[in-house]
Amino acid sequence: MNDLSQAGFIHPFALTVQPWQRAALKGQRGRCIWLTGYSGAGKSTLAVHLEMALLSRSQHTFVLDGDNLRAGLCQDLGMGPEERRENIRRMAEVARLMVDAGLIVIVAAISPFEADRQAARALFAEHEFFLVHVSTSLKECARRDPKGLYRAAREGRVRQFTGVDSPYEAPAGADFVIDTAALPLEQATSRLVAALQAG
Ligand code: ADX
Repeated sequence: MNDLSQAGFIHPFALTVQPWQRAALKGQRGRCIWLTGYSGAGKSTLAVHLEMALLSRSQHTFVLDGDNLRAGLCQDLGMGPEERRENIRRMAEVARLMVDAGLIVIVAAISPFEADRQAARALFAEHEFFLVHVSTSLKECARRDPKGLYRAAREGRVRQFTGVDSPYEAPAGADFVIDTAALPLEQATSRLVAALQAG
């Protein structure tokens, strides 16, 4: 994949306008808030509500959601470990560009593998990346089953489904942990906003 650049045919150059200048114009710091957790954990819902909360504070945001990106940029990718790795790599690279554009980017993706999340984190400076573990239990996610996918996975109609026949590695180093079964959405959102302001 890196053949061209390794051969010296690609020459990235530094732009003159700096990321901080773009962010300063928006009165904020560019940042990536990464939500990981099982399907049905509440990542997308939390991402949407977090974005609305930040918008109401005049912050410039964007949500990168796994399902949405898989409908376009990542539509060529399946659910095997290598394809999930590539999915996360693309999401992280897009988030990196958006942070350089001065945005607060909220990523919502199962991102089940620690190594892939670490690789995503490595694209950012320490203060730019905030990992949120949406820790809603597998049992609760399967009970909710909003898209009928847990049932489909149990019946063998969907393969490599996270939590059924594909693993989820809970993050050890999350900056914030939230169980959406334990508290109402409004409260979860405001706690996350507070954690972001502190962190
Ligand atoms: S990730 O593992 O690569 O991070 P991502 O968050 O982009 O996954 O996409 C997960 C979404 O794809 C789920 O919300 C679900 O709607 C859908 N999906 C379809 N098949 C699967 C599967 N086998 N495992 C998990 N999610 C699946």
